[in-house]
Amino acid sequence: MWTTGKIIERVDWNDKLFSLRIAAEVAPFIAGQFIKLSERQDDKRIARAYSLVNPPGTAYVEVLAVAVEEGALSPKLHTLVVGDEIQVSTQAAGFMTLAEIPRGEEQGKHLWFLATGTAVGPFISMMDTDEPWQRFEKVVLVYGVRHSDDLAYLDKIRQLQQRYPEQFIYIPCVTRQRLAGALDCRITAGLEDGRIEAVAGLTLSATDSQVMICGNPEMVSDAQRILKDRGLQKNLRRAPGQITVEKYW
Ligand SMILES: Cc1cc2nc3c(=O)[nH]c(=O)nc-3n(C[C@H](O)[C@H](O)[C@H](O)COP(=O)(O)OP(=O)(O)OC[C@H]3O[C@@H](n4cnc5c(N)ncnc54)[C@H](O)[C@@H]3O)c2cc1C
Ligand SMILES: NC(=O)c1ccc[n+]([C@@H]2O[C@H](COP(=O)([O-])OP(=O)(O)OC[C@H]3O[C@@H](n4cnc5c(N)ncnc54)[C@H](OP(=O)(O)O)[C@@H]3O)[C@@H](O)[C@H]2O)c1
Repeated sequence: MWTTGKIIERVDWNDKLFSLRIAAEVAPFIAGQFIKLSERQDDKRIARAYSLVNPPGTAYVEVLAVAVEEGALSPKLHTLVVGDEIQVSTQAAGFMTLAEIPRGEEQGKHLWFLATGTAVGPFISMMDTDEPWQRFEKVVLVYGVRHSDDLAYLDKIRQLQQRYPEQFIYIPCVTRQRLAGALDCRITAGLEDGRIEAVAGLTLSATDSQVMICGNPEMVSDAQRILKDRGLQKNLRRAPGQITVEKYW
């Protein structure tokens, strides 16, 4: 089912990366889920998934997107301005949510979020709820981008650092530019050589960690393989583990 949404706010993080806040009647959702945005092109419906950045209970939906050259929908979204309309799916979907993570002894005490590019969005949504802060002793956001101006929602991240100074650990990884305070490696390289754990001051292990991985599909697969070599397992409903993933393409 589709509803017509109206753009009520737009933020440009750089010339390709942008956020749209959209007034739309969407059913209740769980932080980490995605909606679809759609438009008709030559009598064909083009629909694509976008993770919700806003937390549940907000009167609007917000997405973070990058305009992909030659893409069918994202360049169109990039042209939208306040007041424009876009079709929005009324029901969010997706299983990369804290509801999928085992509770009790199997949960572990550290929650790790690994994101490349726009995939920071669902983790911003989750961190804007009480759940991660109530369930875990430490929450680590590892955020991998090409350039420093690809780092979105830094204002929100700084607020979280102030609000949870002992609990929240933020590790930016900027790969194509040197940035003070950021690692200069891919997330996968930083996992393999131990740099990310060293900066976090924590060890990734099957007993202590839950890891959510989202974004670039090769990063997701490679990070998963690295973590499996360390004894972590994919989180399945029939067999609780420590790794929960979502690939963006
Ligand atoms: C569950 C899910 C959630 C998603 N959430 C988001 C989101 O929150 N924000 C978002 O921008 N995209 C998200 N995507 C990707 C999104 O659905 C579209 O694929 C993307 O916007 C490009 O659409 P397009 O029609 O322009 O190009 P497409 O023809 O769909 O894609 C062309 C190519 O663009 C590249 N690409 C696609 N998405 C991205 C991306 N996010 N970052 C970098 N390169 C990309 C890939 O190489 C892909 O093959 C999500 C995808 C899935 C499956
Ligand atoms: N971001 C921009 O400045 C920019 C500009 C023009 C167009 N675009 C378009 O946007 C898309 C790319 O967007 P993006 O930069 O957000 O996403 P991205 O290409 O997935 O890069 C985001 C981060 O993920 C890293 N990464 C890529 N592949 C990886 C892998 N296999 N394992 C581990 N880490 C990996 C990148 O490192 P590396 O730097 O080492 O690849 C980068 O740090 C492209 O389709 C492109 O056309 C982006």
